[in-house]
Amino acid sequence: MARLSRVLALLILVVGGGLWAGMWWRMQSDTPPGTPGQIQIGGPFSLTDPDGKTVTDQQFRGRFMLVYFGYTFCPDVCPTELQTVAASLAALGPDAAKLVPLFITIDPQRDTPKAMGEYTKQFDDRLIGLTGTPEQIAAVAKAYRVYYARSDSKATTDYLMDHSSFLYLMGPDGRMRSLFRPGMQPQELTAALKAQLAG
Ligand code: NI
Repeated sequence: MARLSRVLALLILVVGGGLWAGMWWRMQSDTPPGTPGQIQIGGPFSLTDPDGKTVTDQQFRGRFMLVYFGYTFCPDVCPTELQTVAASLAALGPDAAKLVPLFITIDPQRDTPKAMGEYTKQFDDRLIGLTGTPEQIAAVAKAYRVYYARSDSKATTDYLMDHSSFLYLMGPDGRMRSLFRPGMQPQELTAALKAQLAG
């Protein structure tokens, strides 16, 4: 009996260990996007740059993308976040060339390509402002799981937009590397970006 239980214990150890190792391997290995149980953030987009040219995510493969969603009429959060991005770009120095900073509007009704270009210039020349049709914006916002909605019910020309305010760092392969919460200090963001760009 003692021998049998020792064999059983060994069997449980081997099978259990094997299962655990398999799970660990699956977690460590690069699971392809869309694998069940994995939340996929990001995806293909087709938008318009300030020159009126079509821009797709494919153009940025091989470089990191730092993506932020907002709108030019935003009174507080967007300008603060974009200032943080600009400060980090400056602090990164030559390493910033590995990264494409994108500002995608969630207010395409007012944010024309020209308006986006004029706005992003105030922060950093490298920041690319992208707009599109309401459908194109809805599609990219859905891919990045961005929430946005008009916050007033009155039919005025002046309105605010509610929107989620995360910064997305996408890798050279187009897959998400990091999700940065709103309100990060520039030094904090710079350090996080440096670590990712080096790795
Ligand atoms: Ni905003």
